[in-house]
Amino acid sequence: MENTKLHICDHPLVQHKLSLIRDKNTGSKEFRELVSEVSMLMCYEATRDLPLKSVQIQTPVAIANSSIISGRKLAFVPILRGGLGMVDGAIKLVPAAKIGHIGIFRDKSSGNAAAEYYCKLPFDIDERDVIITDLMLATGVSAVHAVKRVKDSGARSVKFMCLIACTQGANALHEAFPDVDIYCGAMDNELNEDLYIVPGIGDGGDRLFGTK
Ligand code: URA
Repeated sequence: MENTKLHICDHPLVQHKLSLIRDKNTGSKEFRELVSEVSMLMCYEATRDLPLKSVQIQTPVAIANSSIISGRKLAFVPILRGGLGMVDGAIKLVPAAKIGHIGIFRDKSSGNAAAEYYCKLPFDIDERDVIITDLMLATGVSAVHAVKRVKDSGARSVKFMCLIACTQGANALHEAFPDVDIYCGAMDNELNEDLYIVPGIGDGGDRLFGTK
């Protein structure tokens, strides 16, 4: 994969918090807080290329030549359920962003194909740059489906942000959509027979919502 499309956030805070997230002894409350914190830090990286324009600001002392973000509208689109846990951290950095939702499951009866059960995107998505969130990029099946859906809806650009990717999923997403930047905290090598990332974090949705 072209290096510029895969961004592994090697910031010490992300790596430290990711280790706590991986720990099976981390309970749901702490897990949720850590996911939110890591997502905020990763969102900082994923928005690094937002364009700026020059402005003059009157400070209490003098006029400052300064910068503000110029005219870009963002949307976050979490893939349910896991991606939901990443939204509150990200939205703190970009409070004006809109939030869409897409629900996808892997349909075992049709060879683990992506089956969409819910989709609600901002009505003005054609004016927005979209960051799709999911905890894990495992097989890439859900990610490819979500990116296609968001692109078909007319989004200006799409990025994909996850806590942990694995090689198979990142390659699948990159092959389907070479223009999509992937942001993750770590890249693990393997998927097991249940399609969990190894070593990964286990079932991210269950850990986030305490359902197991
Ligand atoms: N979804 C998860 O929650 N965990 C994985 O390891 C892969 C997909």
